[in-house]
Amino acid sequence: MNKSSSWENFQQHYLELPELGISLDTALMNAPDVLPNSTEILFQHAFQQMQELEEGAIANPDENRMVGHYWLRNPELAPSPEIQNLISSTLKNIQQFALEIQQNKLIPQKADSFRNVLLLGIGGSALGPQFVQNSLASKADRMQFYFLDNTDPDGIDQVMSSIGDELNSTLTLVISKSGGTKETRNAMLEVRHVYENSGLDFSKHAVAVTGEKSQLDQLAERENWLRRFPMWDWVGGRTSVLSAVGLLPAALQGLEILEILNGAKVMDELTRRKDVRKNPAAMLAWMWHHAGAGRGEKAMVMLPYKDRLLLFSRYLQQLVMESLGKEKDLAGKTVHQGLSVYGNKGSTDQHAFVQQLREGPADFFVTFIEVLKERKKAGIEVEPGITSGDFLQGFMLGTSAALFQNGRPSLTITLEEINPQSLGALIALFERAVGLYASLIGINAYHQPGVEAGKRAAGDVIELSLKIQFQLKSHPEQQFSAASLADIFADTSQTVTIFKLLEHLAANGRVHKFSSDTPFAAEFKANS
Ligand code: PA5
Repeated sequence: MNKSSSWENFQQHYLELPELGISLDTALMNAPDVLPNSTEILFQHAFQQMQELEEGAIANPDENRMVGHYWLRNPELAPSPEIQNLISSTLKNIQQFALEIQQNKLIPQKADSFRNVLLLGIGGSALGPQFVQNSLASKADRMQFYFLDNTDPDGIDQVMSSIGDELNSTLTLVISKSGGTKETRNAMLEVRHVYENSGLDFSKHAVAVTGEKSQLDQLAERENWLRRFPMWDWVGGRTSVLSAVGLLPAALQGLEILEILNGAKVMDELTRRKDVRKNPAAMLAWMWHHAGAGRGEKAMVMLPYKDRLLLFSRYLQQLVMESLGKEKDLAGKTVHQGLSVYGNKGSTDQHAFVQQLREGPADFFVTFIEVLKERKKAGIEVEPGITSGDFLQGFMLGTSAALFQNGRPSLTITLEEINPQSLGALIALFERAVGLYASLIGINAYHQPGVEAGKRAAGDVIELSLKIQFQLKSHPEQQFSAASLADIFADTSQTVTIFKLLEHLAANGRVHKFSSDTPFAAEFKANS
């Protein structure tokens, strides 16, 4: 037995959090037994920055904002009585609203109760709610959930046709912090259209979660939607799951939202410890730093051995990669930082990409998540003395050992069970780890200039599409190629984009295409 898999080594690298029924095993990460002095210094600075952030410092300098997601589960920490009241009163309003819906005090226009929730949002306004809903779903849920997190027309049609005749008992939550995100706006317009075509007044089925005075907020107010819940500029999209963004859907599902908040609050307390070895979030941040040499050289593969945690890697992909994937550090130096996250679930992935993990490039470390409690009811033995859950654990332990033998490190987070409290704790654990790691590498984890750049670029493409359509409609008899349109617009750098836009318009019957010898000479004309 080599050192790292020995009992002695395990004991040195094992941290138990009895308060939450969670433990962390970093024995197979090949980290030093003693925290290097240089890393200890980085951590003491990170803890200081975190304390200032929690006290209300402007921790997002680019956007000149406070970063207050930790206050959501402990309003007393918020830097002003106004913020404390906002958090507490919003929580009460969420609970009250969910009760009104559940007790049929608030009913739809043409049905006796709301039985479905359709959630429209994207990024931080969808991934957290989806993860929570899926992780804690049970037969006792009060509502059937549907999600639209894109502007894909076919995706929208699929969801709307699944809802079908149940639209009259469907409550639609439109969630957007900025209130101006196009994907969410488009989904809302499409969904509204379906309500109207079914003879239903959308506003009598709609709720908004958004920033005060945003476009969405103003629309919801003007049209007198059922309710509006606030989002605040001091809560970032990807850390908003414990604001109204995630708590409202969770309350409608019938989940114990106070338990979720309590799990996060207890984890926050444990992750404020200044001793790195006793602080699970600091331990995670240290392992990320150690594995990737502080430059994100290794991807983090998330492998929860639990079907319910399937969406965790998607949720974390945003939390981690949108927070840490940055071109510049806080001093303005180009650093191209990041930490790639991908994953799915075990043991399913053992029959898919784990082959490469074992034998391909050693460019990753794994985070296993183990859940000790197998199921709610007693189950059968699939072999004498052995359950399906024993196999699940066996596959996980076998995979971590096999990877380790081949020089591939992993760490394991073990939960006693999945419940609202442990889920809240898991969310808080990774939120804090991301914040601490960002300090270690000196970047702003709370802005997203890359996302904003993508939004602007898409706007330019839409404008170009309108320009093409206008040109074709203004000359209904004439045929145009991509190159000829680029000449007319005096911008040959756009020829490729014009080509792709024309192909898209033609495929959807919105312009007429005349094919030619080569794809590039094809011509297009307005429909007559
Ligand atoms: O984390 C973020 O800030 C983003 O990913 C947002 O959540 C996403 O762009 C959606 O924004 P909004 O909630 O404003 O519609």
